Amino acid sequence: MKSSVYDSSIIELPKVHNVAGNITAINNGEGIVPFEVKRLYYLYDIPGGESRGAHAHKKLEQLIIAASGSFDITLDDGLTRRTFQLSRPYYGLYMPAGLWRELNNFSSGAICLVMASAKYSKKDYLRSYDSFLNYKKV
Ligand code: TYD
Repeated sequence: MKSSVYDSSIIELPKVHNVAGNITAINNGEGIVPFEVKRLYYLYDIPGGESRGAHAHKKLEQLIIAASGSFDITLDDGLTRRTFQLSRPYYGLYMPAGLWRELNNFSSGAICLVMASAKYSKKDYLRSYDSFLNYKKV
């Protein structure tokens, strides 16, 4: 898996502005998300100081949005690390497969919304950093 942290990017999402509040809508097939969305999940009630992630995926592509609050995502391709701060609901971080990721610095009440290219599969996870580095060598 040859993906590098430079294959990840921040995507600006469409925003329908209204004085009564904004709406961001993402439709499959409109080319906003660079994969077909098969699953949506979100992290919430994250205790202060907690970190999440600390794994990589073999095939899964994801778009991560701070639907509320803010948090940091550090990506690692085995050679280079890159940290993004997400703090606006109209930006998403696209992550290709094959990157180690860690999420931390969650603000109080943060909601981390994730769109994913496949249903949940245990087999797609690389849960130790050593197994990730081995995988990247292949
Ligand atoms: P995990 O992806 O390890 O969470 P994180 O990397 O954010 O710390 O998932 C934690 C648990 O949640 C795992 O035991 C299985 C469950 N889970 C699902 O059932 N479906 C899902 O789509 C996800 C992402 C997790």
